[in-house]
Amino acid sequence: MSPFQSVSRQSSPVGEVVTLSPRLQLQHLICAHTPSEEELSPGSDVVQGLSATPKTLSPRYFYDDQGSQLFEAICELPEYYLTRTETLILQDFAEAIAHLTGPCEIVELGSGSSTKTRLLLDAYQSLGHPLRYVPIDVSAGILQSSAQALLQAYPTLQVQGLIGTYEQAIAQLAPTPLAARMICFIGSSLGNLDPETADQFFDQITAALQPGDYFLLGIDLQKPKAILETAYNDAQGVTAAFNLNMLSHLNRRFVGNFEVAQFEHWAFYNETAHQIEMHLRSRQAQSVRLEALDLTVAFEAGETVRTEISRKFDLAAMQQNLASHGLQTLHTWTDPQSWFGLVLAQR
Ligand code: AVJ
Repeated sequence: MSPFQSVSRQSSPVGEVVTLSPRLQLQHLICAHTPSEEELSPGSDVVQGLSATPKTLSPRYFYDDQGSQLFEAICELPEYYLTRTETLILQDFAEAIAHLTGPCEIVELGSGSSTKTRLLLDAYQSLGHPLRYVPIDVSAGILQSSAQALLQAYPTLQVQGLIGTYEQAIAQLAPTPLAARMICFIGSSLGNLDPETADQFFDQITAALQPGDYFLLGIDLQKPKAILETAYNDAQGVTAAFNLNMLSHLNRRFVGNFEVAQFEHWAFYNETAHQIEMHLRSRQAQSVRLEALDLTVAFEAGETVRTEISRKFDLAAMQQNLASHGLQTLHTWTDPQSWFGLVLAQR
């Protein structure tokens, strides 16, 4: 099979390991022992969220192909400081991270295009450490194409991609041949999880690490409301398009008839909960049908659906929280304005 042929879930039995080159393996993860509600009945979370008061939808429905492209465009926006700032921190401190951990296998949750990961790989390479990278993503296509590009750029790199959810992947990591492992969760994706879910997530991380292993976490930090609200209400309307695209995605996926033009983007900073909230607001009273879910939903004029929370953290509080999950902070790094934080913790 050509190394550039795409691997899809349909054509590859679950659990199968596909060796695409001596340095690249991709594995479709098998379901956890108890299949999740979502695996048993796809879209059940949509039914639940749209039947609840207030209405919610999971941010995972942002990321169809169009949504993933829009997210890449958001990362380039002048108002959206997160990606740029985290990249600057990694540019300055990836070597410090590599010094602290020594040789280790880099496991990345939600690897996407792996752009920021290159800064880490560069650092481990310049210290002469062996390069082993385990990207985890639900999209086989993105995983394969970014892995192929990395193999070109790093001649000694070994890649073992895992196709599946974070939960599946971290529960099924094979023992690493290296002295240690570092699970990386950068980009402040943690912000999408409510506090309770984040706590469960940290427990899963701790369970997946051996004593001495590392956890690298990138988080967006609390800052004045105006800066935050500008970052989620960009002048070009890319964030609005990203938010509204969720409805097109749901239409395609669940045979729906959302009229996208009948909704508008709304994002604000909830200062009590320290979170940006993104909503879609119904411009008028309307009813929407999602045929594949056998669901009809009524919206009042002005009613909103919350599509995302993006929590903003306090570094000191995060260290405490990590410690309560058995993860001791070795070092934290920020940018000069303390807008974004990177935490290296050790089990
Ligand atoms: C990918 C979850 C970190 O919360 O800032 C960007 C997603 N939403 N603009 C974020 C997002 C609106 C992003 N995360």
